[in-house]
Amino acid sequence: MSLLSLHDVSLRFGNDPQRPSVLESISLEVGEGEFVTVLGPSGCGKTSLLRLIAGFQESTGGEIVFDGQKVSGPSAERVVVFQQAGLYPWLNLRNNVAFGLKLRRRKVDWRLVEETIDIVGLKGYESYAPYELSGGMQQRAALARALVMSPRLLLMDEPFGALDALTRQRMQEFILELRERLDLTIFFITHDVEEAILLGDRMLIMQAEPGRVTFDEDIRLPRPRSEATTLTPEFQVIRQRALQTLGRVSIAAAGFTDLDTALSLNFDGSSSAREQRA
Ligand SMILES: Nc1ncnc2c1ncn2[C@@H]1O[C@H](COP(=O)(O)OP(=O)(O)O)[C@@H](O)[C@H]1O
Ligand SMILES: [Mg+2]
Repeated sequence: MSLLSLHDVSLRFGNDPQRPSVLESISLEVGEGEFVTVLGPSGCGKTSLLRLIAGFQESTGGEIVFDGQKVSGPSAERVVVFQQAGLYPWLNLRNNVAFGLKLRRRKVDWRLVEETIDIVGLKGYESYAPYELSGGMQQRAALARALVMSPRLLLMDEPFGALDALTRQRMQEFILELRERLDLTIFFITHDVEEAILLGDRMLIMQAEPGRVTFDEDIRLPRPRSEATTLTPEFQVIRQRALQTLGRVSIAAAGFTDLDTALSLNFDGSSSAREQRA
């Protein structure tokens, strides 16, 4: 049975029928333990979709079922990690991580808090204030704050989007590693093509106006994966298909018959092994 099911989910803001739906007729099933990445251009409704699954907002059509129950509000079983770590500046790391437990009036299990801090690689920093932590460490802290709730579904909204390239790469490798150790179901939003392919068991691509899923396929690259995986031909083929789905490059239109040549060119025609990031 799926852990998460979306049945014909749609979302519309306001009453103006001229305005396109933000989300239209989205149906999908996410199995327990699956790592689903969601790729799509800015404004296509990724965050809106995640907010519906988190239960922060109600859809205007269709329904979302989590573990057999209709989603009708937020739950500690479905936690969100955003692009901004959003730590409380007046609390140290230990208390930031424990905050959600306190909020839910659970008795704080300090051993669990310490263990979770250790899992995200921040052991030794328990008494640090957020401003004393680097951007990557703050994102790990945000992850710890989510993991300490023992969620069944981790919802991540461009969690590494604000990090510099090197830190971002480290965090990608870290989440891959973490995923091997914990049996988590992850719904991970990104606008970075390579990140979506590198991390996911399965990739969805969304398109805008109205927001809908136009691509949904398993990514059959062997694990463990690392930055080196992005250099393999298999990875590049998937990347090319993703870019085509996004309408960003067309081999035929560019007059290439040779995939390798097409892949080595940037959209402006200059040559580089990797695409310029948006
Ligand atoms: N509360 C809201 N009221 C009206 N429109 C909204 C609201 N939230 C999001 N939208 C619109 O929904 C669309 C999708 O937004 P969003 O889900 O944030 O996209 P993404 O995360 O893919 O960039 C945008 O056109 C945005 O303007
Ligand atoms: Mg967004």
